[in-house]
Amino acid sequence: MLKKKRSCSIHINPLRILAERSPFLYGQFLEHFHRQIYGGIFDPQSPFADEDGFRSDVLDALREIGVPIIRWPGGCFVSAYHWKTGVGNNRMPYFDKAWRVEEPNWFGTDEFVKYCRKLGAEPYICTNAGTGTPEEMSDWVEYCNLKHEGLFAKQRILNGYQEPHAVKYWSIGNENWGPHEMGSWLSTQWGPMVREAAKMMQHVDPSIELSAAALPDPDWNLNLLKYAGDYLDWISIHGYWDPLWQENHPAGYEKVMLYTSRLETDLLKVEGLLSATGYTDRIRIAYDEWNLRGWHHPGIHTLKQSADRAVYIGAQDKNDDNSTYTMADAVFAACFLNMCHRHARTVGMANFAPAVNARGIIYADKEGIVKRSTYYVFWLYTHYLGEQVVDLWENGNVPLLERTSEDTLNNDLPALDLLATAGVNGTGGRKISIAAVNKDPEHEHAVSLSIDGQEMKAGHLIVHTLNGPDKDSYNDRGREEVRVKDEGPFCFRDGYEISLKPHSVNIIEIVSPERGLNA
Ligand code: AHR
Repeated sequence: MLKKKRSCSIHINPLRILAERSPFLYGQFLEHFHRQIYGGIFDPQSPFADEDGFRSDVLDALREIGVPIIRWPGGCFVSAYHWKTGVGNNRMPYFDKAWRVEEPNWFGTDEFVKYCRKLGAEPYICTNAGTGTPEEMSDWVEYCNLKHEGLFAKQRILNGYQEPHAVKYWSIGNENWGPHEMGSWLSTQWGPMVREAAKMMQHVDPSIELSAAALPDPDWNLNLLKYAGDYLDWISIHGYWDPLWQENHPAGYEKVMLYTSRLETDLLKVEGLLSATGYTDRIRIAYDEWNLRGWHHPGIHTLKQSADRAVYIGAQDKNDDNSTYTMADAVFAACFLNMCHRHARTVGMANFAPAVNARGIIYADKEGIVKRSTYYVFWLYTHYLGEQVVDLWENGNVPLLERTSEDTLNNDLPALDLLATAGVNGTGGRKISIAAVNKDPEHEHAVSLSIDGQEMKAGHLIVHTLNGPDKDSYNDRGREEVRVKDEGPFCFRDGYEISLKPHSVNIIEIVSPERGLNA
């Protein structure tokens, strides 16, 4: 007779609020790369296109997850992009030196802002600090935000946009720290340049919030903060854990779980640098590109550049393979978002890279769209998590992942990743929502729930579970393996026990409709 494993006891104190989480943790990113824009969100010839040429099926799917903010137009693309060529009626195509293809310039600033307004998302523009200048960046702010003063606001009006676009969020540069970027800078040059760009942009519109490309690197960040810290509201970092740029061999489930042990590494370094320089409560972190999987673009901007278009263009279609995006991607994404919530005091934004096509949460082609496994993580989190991150601790019997051949770590990995939030339910009562991820590829794990300091006499409990038949389940056209299933409501009592299925992302809602949790 197998001895029943004791459940992991979880305690929650809804009165101990760790932070209010920003809705921008569920942000998205769109770049002029492969089919994210053309053939992704924008396809005037498509039967799905609306009056503005936007794919209505894509727009609807993004609306369903309440996308709060979109970063655009890059990414590496922006470091050779001149925004003035992408507005007005005489747009000329140009050769994009970042991704080495022709950019038609049909989708520019006006189209991007219109897209965001239609979606109900904040536009977040990343400026060109590669081949661009502080003046070009500040001209972009003039074009978007001045009512009519000066040349560029008048150009916007002539282009048919009488009212300012009111773009509040801006970033200076993309990854200009790296030799892969068009126009990369030395750490000693970056801070002074960012300061000059920030001054000019804020002289145009002092109400904008500014970020700048940063790194979990003391030398780069200390120089940035030394010269420009007083002008910044954010600093931007990026994270990709499965390095597929050159070789497209996506890591399997077990290896991806090892990657979850490295989620906080870079963030802790950046938090430390902000703390050491006294900027912790003045500058927030924007993780404004993140994805488990690096995008596949071999020979595009490595030292061994390929001159053969078939190599560096054709290969990018491999990002479209929907079987790549399994429960591993969903479990990883949930662990990353849980981490951002736990650091909600310092992390104010995170943008999944990207939203559509490439490694996106949505795949779109001429026949329609596919909602990949990661899409449903955003669906769960935006529908059921509360705004306040509250204290949660495991009180023993924390299950560990069994070691596999992939395991190169020396420390044991917990099988569960847990986050508790508090918020308001549909009837105005308070509710607790627990994001409970079971990383274990094979075993269920039971948890018993105890809400500290409160008797939950009349609580109801509902479990929303994202899962597929196995750890490698994925969605594709005519194949909907990964879905959200609900169970409940059940009567909740302190000590209530739930079994979490292997490789699953769960949100457990505990609702006290009669009385507020703090009544
Ligand atoms: O692979 C895509 C690239 O990843 C983005 O353009 C860049 O910002 C990051 O290096």
